[in-house]
Amino acid sequence: MTTFNKITPSVLESFSKILGNEYVLSDAESVLNYSHDETEDLHFPPEVILKPRTPEEISQIMLICNREQIPVTPRGAGTGLSGAALPVYGGVILSLERFNKILEIDERNLQATVEPGVINEVFQLAVREKGLFYPPDPASKGSCFLGGNIALSSGGPKAVKYGTTKEYVLNLEVVLPTGEIIWTGANVLKNSTGFNLTQLMVGSEGMLGIVTKIVFRLLPLPQKTIVMLVPFYSAGKACESVASVFKAGIIPSAMEFMERDAIDWALRFVSGISIQIDEKVQAHLLIELDGNDMEGMMKDAEAIGEIMTRFDCGEILFADTEEQKQNLWRMRRCIGEAVKSHSVYKEEDTVVMRAELPRLLAGVKEIGSKYGFKSVCYGHAGDGNLHVNIIKGEMSDDDWNNKLPLGIREIFTLCVKLGGTISGEHGIGWVQKDYMDIAFTSKALELQKQIRDVFDPNGIMNPGKMFK
Ligand code: MLT
Ligand code: ZN
Repeated sequence: MTTFNKITPSVLESFSKILGNEYVLSDAESVLNYSHDETEDLHFPPEVILKPRTPEEISQIMLICNREQIPVTPRGAGTGLSGAALPVYGGVILSLERFNKILEIDERNLQATVEPGVINEVFQLAVREKGLFYPPDPASKGSCFLGGNIALSSGGPKAVKYGTTKEYVLNLEVVLPTGEIIWTGANVLKNSTGFNLTQLMVGSEGMLGIVTKIVFRLLPLPQKTIVMLVPFYSAGKACESVASVFKAGIIPSAMEFMERDAIDWALRFVSGISIQIDEKVQAHLLIELDGNDMEGMMKDAEAIGEIMTRFDCGEILFADTEEQKQNLWRMRRCIGEAVKSHSVYKEEDTVVMRAELPRLLAGVKEIGSKYGFKSVCYGHAGDGNLHVNIIKGEMSDDDWNNKLPLGIREIFTLCVKLGGTISGEHGIGWVQKDYMDIAFTSKALELQKQIRDVFDPNGIMNPGKMFK
């Protein structure tokens, strides 16, 4: 294992010379603020927080840290759910919050160049004003940074039709751990030139370099949506219905699954939304269709309604107004926070082929009974991406700490057995790294570590993440 050095007063002085004192923070309050993200209850204090403004400043910082063997953890908005931005070995938190400019929206080529500290929704709204569309929409879209989305190839509800962040990244400017600044590709839609460094960076959780500019491709904005909430008397049946919709040739722009507890807790958590739910209802699907041809979309919605009746659904609620649509989405997006406020929990981000969703859900519940835990499941059913929130409830601390990892291991083993893997969109980071052997053979893991070592020979870049 790499050994790291502490930050000395002279190194601190060098940081201040590069950035100015204002952007070099080590007071107790800042250290506390930057010691956690949204992952459960983890705290790892950095020694210093640096807030650079240019790639050149980052390059100078990396040269020093590489020479002095100081760990550097890049950080966006701190909304991550796998602990990927936690400074587990102390050292530097490199915050990208001052990289907050949309540099260009190129309407002729349907592309945009942005900095990594731009908030996802700010970018979505800016391109929307020009009739353009950036689809990736994580639940935290109102606060998460595009750079963080790249680090984890974040998804969100629209991924089912439009794909995750990686589908939109054309080219990246990156400061390497050794200080050099490179572009990974070209601003083109087709590219068969060399290894795909761009896609290697996407999802690499800030371990291969620090992204300082992003070139995204964009789409024309669909003008219309239909949003429907479908209740089911069995959660298993709700999951079974999902694949039939796609088999019928319909690709919704979102297809979200929510167990009864998920929707109940969300409705209690969020203000101003009331939905009457029959007490026998066990789960819902929230389905959205988008496009420009309302007649065609209505036909698809009717076809979905017919398919759903084969799976014992209740009366479907169609959102009539824009406000109703927004409310349903607001309710869905707050489930994660609602669960968090309810109990000590652990969130897993399981993913299987969508037709295997019923077996995954049944397996999760069976494993829960065996190990004595309850779970609240929800997520992106159309993608086979089920967020399994394990609730501590009555479990003893001993069982929570010692037995639960065995249960999680069984859940992940089931995912892989069903053709899936252990994270669909939250990443591996700190909290899932012990399970990577389930997803990869030792050779495939070794190759990934070797790639990391090529980029970061001294092992200073976001150490302690992804691999044991
Ligand atoms: C979601 O789908 O709500 C997000 O991935 C966040 C979460 O699961 O907590
Ligand atoms: Zn999600």
